[in-house]
Amino acid sequence: MTERPCFMAISASTTSAHEIAADWLAVLVADTSEIQENVGQIDDVLGGVIRAAMDRGDFHAKPNELLTLYQTSGVAATNIVVVGLGAAAGCDMRGLRQGMLAGLRICCLQKEQSVAMIVDESISENISASQLAETFSDSVVAGPVDADVYKAEIKRHPFLSATLCLPSIDGIERALDTGATVGTACNVVKDLVNRTANDIYPQTFAACAAEIAEDCQLECVILDETHMAAEKMGALLAVARGSEKPPRIVKLMYKGAGSNDETIGIVGKGVTFDSGGYSIKPTDSMISMKADMAGAATALGVISAVATLKLPVNLSVYVGLVENMISGNAYRLGDVVTARNGTTIEIHNTDAEGRLVLADVLSYAVDDGVDAIIDLATLTGACVVALGEEITGVFSNSSALNDRITDAAAATGEFFWPMPMHKHFEPLLKSDVADCKNVGPRWGGAVTAAKFLEKFVGETPWVHLDIAGPAWADSGAAWQDSGGTASCVRTLIEVFRGK
Ligand code: BES
Ligand code: MN
Ligand code: ZN
Repeated sequence: MTERPCFMAISASTTSAHEIAADWLAVLVADTSEIQENVGQIDDVLGGVIRAAMDRGDFHAKPNELLTLYQTSGVAATNIVVVGLGAAAGCDMRGLRQGMLAGLRICCLQKEQSVAMIVDESISENISASQLAETFSDSVVAGPVDADVYKAEIKRHPFLSATLCLPSIDGIERALDTGATVGTACNVVKDLVNRTANDIYPQTFAACAAEIAEDCQLECVILDETHMAAEKMGALLAVARGSEKPPRIVKLMYKGAGSNDETIGIVGKGVTFDSGGYSIKPTDSMISMKADMAGAATALGVISAVATLKLPVNLSVYVGLVENMISGNAYRLGDVVTARNGTTIEIHNTDAEGRLVLADVLSYAVDDGVDAIIDLATLTGACVVALGEEITGVFSNSSALNDRITDAAAATGEFFWPMPMHKHFEPLLKSDVADCKNVGPRWGGAVTAAKFLEKFVGETPWVHLDIAGPAWADSGAAWQDSGGTASCVRTLIEVFRGK
């Protein structure tokens, strides 16, 4: 048993689940005609309470359905939470993760709880033991962490210990370690996104990044506004001008492969608050705009995990950190600004600020010599209109890179969907006075935003991930409170594991 970051012992065991002394036993049950195998054995020991609840119609094993039994007898654990997984054949990585989280989040409402878990063997056709173990460990670490960061009493607490019951535990230790690293990275992201804009602004975000760099032994370079002026980053600096908080760019470098091997760049939008500027947002749209730095936070989470896992890849992260505010010095509608690559941009909407920030950071990353770029940005409400709140929009100039990322998403159980990049969108960004304007017409807004970004990546293979929907949950669910979701972290780590 290895001690894992910040508190707990996570292990796997071949001991029968009913013999494990713990505060909680979580039993994940698939919806089959008859409960059998390992879950059936537990139910036998329990005197058939799960089958009886199903017979009565009190529990159907639907996805994320919960049945909580307190102070049970027959098993060594004190309390039991039964979680539905839905039909075994339909249970994929997403369903498994949500089920594990739904169960574990019941078990951590008291401090210092210990938990054991058993998962219906009938899902083993889709999901391997190491996937189970990794997802378990990830969920144990990430599950208790919610958005209530400023409360005196937080609702959920880190586990004291967690044990996954498996028929065989050969080679499982590594999967448990990986899962804990992934869960920890997700917690870093959620914490940054959930903290407020008076707490996380460009300088404090940069300080957090520097701390992560120190912990993970990454090279770290921070550019301030003087550097940015020298780099002629007129687009980013225009957005930053309205704020009292000076902008920052943070570059983090991880070298896990040879100097001749490819280096991937991840570019993150780090707008620490998006008021909209003079194209000001209405209150209801502005309220969650502390989360407009989720792309930057995600990039940090990914590189911290990649470094902790010592993956054999080269990865550089570039985050553009600004606050989009209103003041006598703020950029105006009609202004023309010059981006780092010389492109002049007429400002038609100061709320289309993310693409201006990314324009300069993308061209900086390209000139820094990265071989491919993935950008992450809460870029457009239009993408949320197109795909809903849970799907990441994927825009690319390279089908190979596109496939690499969507394959990883499929393996991880995150929803990604390809978006068009046809040439006919290009004239929509034409300006009468400058090389282009920063917004197109109303329709196709997620695509014209991506076409704008494309102007700044040159020939470099590039994927733009619009995470405006999935980065933030407006309402809570059994597996996740409202707030930052750490979406895309698992997929991007998977990209670098290249399994
Ligand atoms: N940060 C917003 C996009 C956003 C919207 C993120 C909803 C998360 C949830 C971005 O800066 C923005 O304001 N985009 C505008 C673009 C428009 C002015 C072309 C939008 O989506 O309305
Ligand atoms: Mn905006
Ligand atoms: Zn924004």
